[in-house]
Amino acid sequence: MTELAITSSIDNGDLPDAENWTAPEVIEWGLSEYGGEIAIASSFGAEDVVLIDMAAKLAPRFRVFTLDTDFLFPETYALIDRIEQRHGITVERTRAEFSPIEQARALGEALWTRQPDVCCNLRKVEPLTKKLAELKGWITGIRRDQSPARANARKIEWDARFGLVKLNPLASWNWSDLWQYIKANGVDYNPLHDQNYPSIGCTHCTRPVLPGEDPRAGRWSGTAKTECGLHVQN
Ligand code: ADX
Repeated sequence: MTELAITSSIDNGDLPDAENWTAPEVIEWGLSEYGGEIAIASSFGAEDVVLIDMAAKLAPRFRVFTLDTDFLFPETYALIDRIEQRHGITVERTRAEFSPIEQARALGEALWTRQPDVCCNLRKVEPLTKKLAELKGWITGIRRDQSPARANARKIEWDARFGLVKLNPLASWNWSDLWQYIKANGVDYNPLHDQNYPSIGCTHCTRPVLPGEDPRAGRWSGTAKTECGLHVQN
């Protein structure tokens, strides 16, 4: 049987049912099953710093990658540096093929204001596709209560779009679970969270939320867009 036939036959039926597992149990399973071929996808929001802290408590070595769009907040870049130092890791920074200047030259200035989907595709989805091609599993911080598109996320699932196993250890967590963990474990986090940015993406497409607004209302505000495209199945 060819490699392709083996991987394409995987579905959730071949993976463990992890719905009663704790988040560290899910991460531990991923690390022991896939070793250096699994990585945490991190934008360094509250979910992702929790995942990194859990992994660091479980294993001396683990992989973390970030999709560096070139448009992250200075606070995010500074947090990446601090986390690298704290855990003695090197975050794998995956960049878009085109620099912001090249993108502006080819597609016009401020693409994100005119075609945010195209911008997200170039700066996040395409680099993610390349990164995932070198892995057998990825670990994400998505939670079911974040959006309708994430409501059915399982703790361990087959990601048919990218063709690898996807771990969502925090799928059943809510916002207050996250902050209890962050405070109890002294986890370093993005200071923008204390300035009404519950969900943090690129500078151009993220604003603070107002009291009573949905936590994701600050992402692509003023457009119909609600997902950057990393977690939608085709
Ligand atoms: S997004 O699709 O709207 O941008 P969100 O910011 O909620 O996603 O993040 C959800 C999860 O996607 C994160 O916990 C992380 O696992 C992954 N992710 C999002 N942005 C990035 C990024 N820039 N680099 C790596 N992983 C990311």
